[in-house]
Amino acid sequence: MIEINNLLVKYKTTEIKFDDYKFMKNKVSVISGRNGSGKTTLLKSLSSLIEYEGNVSVNGEITYNSQEPVLFNRTAYENIIYPLIIRKLDVTLYQKTIKEYSEVLDIKHLLDKNALKLSSGEKMKVSIIRSIIFNPDIVLLDEPTTHLDLESINELSILIKKLKNKITFIIVSHNKTFLDELKDEEYKLGGNHVYSEIN
Ligand SMILES: Nc1ncnc2c1ncn2[C@@H]1O[C@H](COP(=O)(O)OP(=O)(O)OP(=O)(O)O)[C@@H](O)[C@H]1O
Ligand SMILES: [Mg+2]
Repeated sequence: MIEINNLLVKYKTTEIKFDDYKFMKNKVSVISGRNGSGKTTLLKSLSSLIEYEGNVSVNGEITYNSQEPVLFNRTAYENIIYPLIIRKLDVTLYQKTIKEYSEVLDIKHLLDKNALKLSSGEKMKVSIIRSIIFNPDIVLLDEPTTHLDLESINELSILIKKLKNKITFIIVSHNKTFLDELKDEEYKLGGNHVYSEIN
C-alpha cells in the first residue's frame, strides 16, 4: 500500500533519514516523535509535496491534510466540493455524504459561511471533510486535533473509525487519548535520524 525504502530528505542545513517501513492498508497508522523529528517532512514526502531521495511507493490516490490548512475565500461548502469539481465528479451524488460528514463533525450549520471567517477548529473540520469527500485511498492527517475541543476530537475519532475500512489513515497527533482510541500501528521517529548543521 505505502512502502518507504532508504528515504532521505535534505533541507539546506538539515538531513532527515527514515527507517524503511510498510504502512498497512485500511488501518490507522500513527507517526510519533518530538517537535522537529520529521513527522511533517515524512507526510509531505509520502504525498510527493517535497523532494526526497530513496523510494516511496504508493498504491492509490493519496491526500495530505496540512497542520495549517489553507481554505479558499469561498463558502465552507464550496471548499468541500472543490476536489469533486477538479475531478469532474457529479457533485449531486455526494450531497448525502457531505451532509453525513458535516453532521458527524458538527459543522452543518457552517456550510454556507465564508471559510476564511471560521475559527481554527472549524477550518480544520472543513479541511478534513475536503480531504476525504472524494474517497481517496490514503489520507494523511497532520495534527488534526490541535485546534479541536474534546467533543470534536471524539467526533473525529468516530468519523475515522467509520471510514477506516475503505481509507488508510496515517496520522500525526500529540493527543494521547485520540491516538489510543484509533491506533493500529505506530511508526516512531527518534534517535539520531535528524542531522543538523548550524552555521
Ligand atoms: N522547508 C524547510 N527548510 C529547512 N528546514 C526545514 C524545512 N522544513 C522542516 N525543516 C527542518 O526539518 C526538521 C523536521 O521538521 P518537521 O516539520 O518535519 O518536524 P515535525 O516532526 O513535523 O515537528 P512538529 O511536531 O513541530 O510539527 C526540523 O529541524 C525543521 O527545522
Ligand atoms: Mg509537523
